[in-house]
Amino acid sequence: MLIRSVTPQDTSARVKLIHACVDFAMVTAEMIDSAPVNPATLTRRWVAEIDGDLVATAMAELAIYDGAGAAKADVMVAPEHRGTGIGTALLQKVDGHLKEIGARLVTSHAFDEIGVRFAERNGFTAGRRTRVSKTDPERALPMAVPSDIKLLAVSELPDLRAAHEVALAFGPDIPSDTPYVALPYDKWVAARHGNARLALDCSFLAFADEIPVAFTLTEIIGDRMISLLTGTRPGYRQRGLASLIKAAALSTAATRGVRHAYTFNDTENVAMLAVNDKFGYRPDTVARELTRVQR
Ligand SMILES: CC(C)(COP(=O)(O)OP(=O)(O)OC[C@H]1O[C@@H](n2cnc3c(N)ncnc32)[C@H](O)[C@@H]1OP(=O)(O)O)[C@@H](O)C(=O)NCCC(=O)NCCS
Repeated sequence: MLIRSVTPQDTSARVKLIHACVDFAMVTAEMIDSAPVNPATLTRRWVAEIDGDLVATAMAELAIYDGAGAAKADVMVAPEHRGTGIGTALLQKVDGHLKEIGARLVTSHAFDEIGVRFAERNGFTAGRRTRVSKTDPERALPMAVPSDIKLLAVSELPDLRAAHEVALAFGPDIPSDTPYVALPYDKWVAARHGNARLALDCSFLAFADEIPVAFTLTEIIGDRMISLLTGTRPGYRQRGLASLIKAAALSTAATRGVRHAYTFNDTENVAMLAVNDKFGYRPDTVARELTRVQR
């Protein structure tokens, strides 16, 4: 087995590998090739190959929008090559880099129990459970907009300021093991909107008396979409607003040919699960959030 840094020639094999490991991954070769490089994240990526075939990949970087010393890492080994020490060898590379870049709190995810046990053996703590679920957006019909509410696609607005305002209002209520960081507008846009896959015509805001009160952000690639963020301002909850904006997002996405809609919800987020259940989302996988304080 050879472990080496990623090269541009690895892209198509890496995309295949990522999909073999994470069925719902929203990644294509064009996305990898055109992804903007942010030097501040000090990102490093590796691959492992056996007889010229790429069998695993790993990454470690600073999560610059999540606070000082926050970092992200992942290790993915092709299912047929698991249990042979490749993950451990890649994790050594990851650990060395995390040390070099001054990482203090590292976050990762596991998508099955074997992944959780591997992470725990390597000092990670498995925390919250995220239900990954899936629906066909054609099942969602647009809902009637209440007379005191204005519903707009984000693409109809001059910028993302209203989206940022409401995201800051509900952000602290999103269940998470990592501390909530309230980003100023410019950094929030860079963290969220730097993503070329955002579909602003399928991302919606609800306004009450000109106040932005609910927001859903959608990413689309081909016939797949992910709801990245949905929330309602405290004081406006339980009035059907999250349902309204998700219905708008899903039904608009259906008209764009989207057939697979994914969403990620903390298994204790009763209200968000209730909203999604209405649109026919069915559990696909349970992901675990993994964190490790660097020694
Ligand atoms: C989850 C959230 C978006 C729901 O927004 P909302 O505008 O209140 O949603 P809706 O009014 O459309 O629907 C809420 C549903 O949850 C149900 N619900 C069940 N338990 C609930 C609870 N403990 N609190 C609130 N709603 C609850 C409501 O009954 C309702 O279902 P129904 O319409 O079938 O009666 C809102 O609570 C929120 O912003 N939370 C913080 C942000 C978050 O966690 N977002 C998800 C991760 S990105």
